Amino acid sequence: MTGVNRGLDGVAVAETRLSTMDGEAGELIIGGFPVEELADDATFEETLYLLFHDRLPDAGELSEFRTDLAARREIGDEVLAVLQRAADEEKPAMDALRMGAAAANLGVDGDDPESDALRVVATFPTIVAAYWRYREGNEPIAPDPDLRHAANYLYMLTGERPEESAVRGLETYLNAVVDHGLNASTFTARVVVSTESDVVSAATAAVGTLKGPLHGGAPGPVLDMLKSVHASDDPEAYVREKLEADERLMGFGHRIYRVRDPRAAVLESAAEQFYDDDDDFFETITEFEDVAVELLAEYKPDRDLETNVEFYTAALLHGVGVPQELFPATFGVSRVGGWMAHALEQLEDNRLIRPESRYTGDRNRSWTPVDER
Ligand code: ACO
Repeated sequence: MTGVNRGLDGVAVAETRLSTMDGEAGELIIGGFPVEELADDATFEETLYLLFHDRLPDAGELSEFRTDLAARREIGDEVLAVLQRAADEEKPAMDALRMGAAAANLGVDGDDPESDALRVVATFPTIVAAYWRYREGNEPIAPDPDLRHAANYLYMLTGERPEESAVRGLETYLNAVVDHGLNASTFTARVVVSTESDVVSAATAAVGTLKGPLHGGAPGPVLDMLKSVHASDDPEAYVREKLEADERLMGFGHRIYRVRDPRAAVLESAAEQFYDDDDDFFETITEFEDVAVELLAEYKPDRDLETNVEFYTAALLHGVGVPQELFPATFGVSRVGGWMAHALEQLEDNRLIRPESRYTGDRNRSWTPVDER
């Protein structure tokens, strides 16, 4: 073995029919559809069905799939106790999701990976919403099987039937971010099942990967940044200060995209309707993007740094009414669909994922007993 490919840039380790992107052209295809079309038109259940079965369902299949998913949403009292403790100790939502995902799926036995995968997807919104209810000093709300996946999530968060516009906004988000090639958390999920472990372990490990700020943890800080710039009304000063200090601007840059992330446009147009013209917050957001991209080109001329998905995630989820603390966990509510579809795909034709490392340590040490060191 010669060189080391740090970060595995440009290395393909799996074939997939689930999604692909062109980082130079700024294109993303999910299950055969351009993200723009799928995000705006599909219900989240249709997107999940597409990923799990490689085709869109007809009306009867969709109805059955919805019922199957809704039937798996409930979590037991022992799981609620875990979530209450996480909330009482003010653990971040991603930690609660990791603990809840493991606890809520104890009954999953591995005999039927597709049924298990569906249960994992179904329980994610219930876990996040129950944790949030406890954080706010409220009792959790049981899932309503008559509501769609996205609507039910909002209902369990607030206790109120959501407006259709909010459901559509959330559904657009869930569809847009459900899958994205072999991103870090999806890679994690595939590595876990490649050892012939189970899909619950894959999901809990993937939650841990998604939590980091270089992956799914960026939209909360993006919203803080936008609020601060809205108050100061001086985006240039803000961006220059960050870049002078050699800090990264959250919501910009991507390992694959050298142009604007195609999901940014989808989420931007979905977000706009939630902002009142009287409050120029949305104007601040778009102005900030322009200023940031221009200054990133000035400070980092060797790298094409454009807006990534997390920038307008913050705008859309804030507009829909998802609490800021739940942005990464809401990413998980969507991406778990991709993780599970990838896990099933990996199992169809499994080969243990086992890369190599290049040893840089000593080779000729001689052992000294502890009392002689
Ligand atoms: N702000 C400022 N500089 C940046 C940014 C940024 N957002 N992103 C990359 N750079 C700079 C780096 O400092 C580096 O500069 P240098 O060569 O002068 O040291 C150069 O661009 C290359 O950086 P890498 O870390 O090699 O780029 P990589 O492809 O690994 O980074 C990443 C991708 C991690 C997303 C990065 O752009 C970043 O940290 N962005 C901010 C965090 C963020 O928005 N995360 C969400 C990502 S989207 C998602 O996962 C869903």
